[in-house]
Amino acid sequence: MLNDIQTIKNLAGEEIEKADSLKSIQELKIKYLGKKGILTGKLKSLGSTPQEDRREYGRILNEAKICIEDLLSKHEAAFKTLELNKTLQTQRIDVTVPGYFIPAGHLHPTTQVLDEIISIFTSLGFNVEEGPEVELDFYNFEALNMPKDHPARDMQDTFYITEDIVLRTHTSSVQVRIMEKNAPPLRVIAPGKVYRCDADVTHIPMFHQLEGFMVDRDIKMSDLKGVLEVFIHTVFGPDTKLRFRPSFFPFTEPSAEIDISCVICKGAGCNVCKNTGWLEILGAGMINPRIFEMAGYDPDQYTGFAFGMGIERVTMLKYGIDDIRLFYENDIRFLGQF
Ligand code: DAH
Repeated sequence: MLNDIQTIKNLAGEEIEKADSLKSIQELKIKYLGKKGILTGKLKSLGSTPQEDRREYGRILNEAKICIEDLLSKHEAAFKTLELNKTLQTQRIDVTVPGYFIPAGHLHPTTQVLDEIISIFTSLGFNVEEGPEVELDFYNFEALNMPKDHPARDMQDTFYITEDIVLRTHTSSVQVRIMEKNAPPLRVIAPGKVYRCDADVTHIPMFHQLEGFMVDRDIKMSDLKGVLEVFIHTVFGPDTKLRFRPSFFPFTEPSAEIDISCVICKGAGCNVCKNTGWLEILGAGMINPRIFEMAGYDPDQYTGFAFGMGIERVTMLKYGIDDIRLFYENDIRFLGQF
């Protein structure tokens, strides 16, 4: 028995020394110390050895076991280090290699410009309000001084849902909605989608507008001019000139269309401004007292100004885009430029 153990120990030692991989070390571990391993077999047979020898055999067997275990784990660790070094050599990460470019989307140009415009007006104390896109004829037309038979309704090609319900043709519809619910003083901008049955290079059936209005005692045309100047100079640069041209809107009196000096030729004349040096950018005026009556305000106490602009139009002027339809064709080559 003692000889047996010695032989097993020596054999195991030789085999472990000769092993040339982690795998063969693991196989030897099973061969000698596994459930059906050689040394394990001897330990199991300890029960059938004579009582007087059992203690001594047990001790020697245990010694042999510890010795083989030590040898195995020493070699196992050596092979593991070897393999780790090999992996580190072959699978090195070069952190200087440029990364993959993952294309990311961005906000639509109309949204970018709208966000900029909103931040300008909120910095001037205007609050952002919204109204419904499916609107009562009353707020879209009648409350704005356009009764059913008013010829000004023809200026806007309306989508009617019923006799009394329309897709709003402009964000001016928000004016009386807000005035009905809030007493002056008021400083409001109302951005949103509007709809007109119209389609060509400068018109599409759905586009965005931003309405602005301010109501208080003693609001004057010069207040309108000051607010619009801040807006225009921020969006188009401080050298941009403004021109107020007399116009007509049923909801403002007096009314004006506001032009800016051409962003391309700076006023010298080019084909974008049709050689006039000016580009029309928005409509505005002093709120017609009839609107205050509709909203329940006293027109003898309050005055106000209002203005309305097309967001796509402002974006087109800002970037020199000549076809409004480009905004909604979803062509990445176009949208990617912003
Ligand atoms: N609602 C007008 C339109 O869609 C734009 C407009 C003009 C709004 C003059 C105003 C204004 O508030 O005062 O054409």
